[in-house]
Amino acid sequence: MSLRSIILFIAVCSFTAYYIYEPIPDEIEERWKLMLTNSFFRSLSHLADLSEFLGLKDYMGVMYFITLAEEIAPVSDKHVKVTEMKLDGVDVLLYEPKQQAGDHDLRRAIIYFHGGGWCLGSSRMSPYDLLARTMVTEVDAVVLSVEYRLAPPHHFPVAYEDVYRVVKHFLQKGVLAQYSVDPERVAVSGDSAGGNLAAAVSQQLQKEPGLQVKLKAQALLYPVTQALDLNTPSYQQNQDMPILTRTLMVRFWSEYFTSDKALFRAMMTNTHNSPETSSLLKFVNWSTFLPEAYHRKYNYSAPAIDGVKGGAALKNRLSRSFTDPRASPLLVPDSALRSLPKAYVLTCEYDVLRDDGLMYVTRLRAAGVEVTHEHYDTGFHGALMFNTWPTEFLIARRMTDNYIEWLKQNL
Ligand SMILES: *[C@@H]1O[C@H](CO)[C@@H](O)[C@H](O)[C@H]1NC(C)=O
Ligand SMILES: *[C@@H]1O[C@H](CO)[C@@H](O)[C@H](O)[C@H]1NC(C)=O
Repeated sequence: MSLRSIILFIAVCSFTAYYIYEPIPDEIEERWKLMLTNSFFRSLSHLADLSEFLGLKDYMGVMYFITLAEEIAPVSDKHVKVTEMKLDGVDVLLYEPKQQAGDHDLRRAIIYFHGGGWCLGSSRMSPYDLLARTMVTEVDAVVLSVEYRLAPPHHFPVAYEDVYRVVKHFLQKGVLAQYSVDPERVAVSGDSAGGNLAAAVSQQLQKEPGLQVKLKAQALLYPVTQALDLNTPSYQQNQDMPILTRTLMVRFWSEYFTSDKALFRAMMTNTHNSPETSSLLKFVNWSTFLPEAYHRKYNYSAPAIDGVKGGAALKNRLSRSFTDPRASPLLVPDSALRSLPKAYVLTCEYDVLRDDGLMYVTRLRAAGVEVTHEHYDTGFHGALMFNTWPTEFLIARRMTDNYIEWLKQNL
């Protein structure tokens, strides 16, 4: 090797190391693997920014590559029968145990909503496919994985309405009987934006007239619960944490509602609240709803009430959207929480959404709802989905085992 190529080699190596290295807290397991994984996400995000800047393809359009890269064909295997179908016009994947249920044995059912910030993700991604199969074989449940429509092509409330339609349709005695499902044992569940949809659906179903069947449980995995305060201590502490940075979460929120960049800019500075939304800030007051240990180091200040820059019509539409409990399920009074089904809530320490989950736990418990809360001290956002090669993390296995165990005992 010539001196020049040695120098070039060292330069490339140090640039790569510099690019991959991030200050990730020591207690996170498999740190280097996480840095490497995240450097892929960061590179893609940079590419997406560039592409949008050059007018080639919008940011989310490029980020959608993550979804495509992990998509697999949903096929039946030895234990699980997989069917692609539509329920009330919405695409779903139905996973059923192959082993016939006995004549008198009815099964449990889990209706699952994938994560991805309402903009990315699919029930066909291998991590979701694997999770669905695990639920079928371990819990002996029927699993419906919902392929709801995504933003930015479809803004709020389309994703919510899609999942609501599926749940409402499925919760009819005749439909449940068709799949040998016990009407007493149906749950909704989801991770991240899917957890947001699961929480919202559980609330809204209570208002549904003439519903024959009630949900037994809701399992919310690092859920998103509110759009009013994007500067909670966890947003501050974890703004640059792997997988979900604050900027990306703000991007997801704003794209869920509109492609107008004015909302993104206002949300970034946490100044998007307006006089019309300010009366709801009491429901997301983290100095009240976070356990002491999580807010001790931070001084509470309520979000500024500047509003979104833009015309009155845009302003009105947006403030109605992000205060809508179908988007922000934390924004309801206690009376709307009281009769909710029992809940499982998973939160991660190193996650911008940690406090969204923690506050929902506090509010549900205060309203008398039975809640199992599992907090992962070394967890990061999205960890549960890192369950397949080459991005397999030990923590994903532990989370899956605990989640499945809860379903077995509580559904
Ligand atoms: C939040 O709670 C703190 C103390 O519990 C209180 O002083 C403050 O006025 C509250 N702010 C809002 C916007 O609810
Ligand atoms: C919170 O307020 C106290 C008293 O004003 C101050 O000493 C402290 O530095 C503040 N903490 C933060 C994180 O801003």
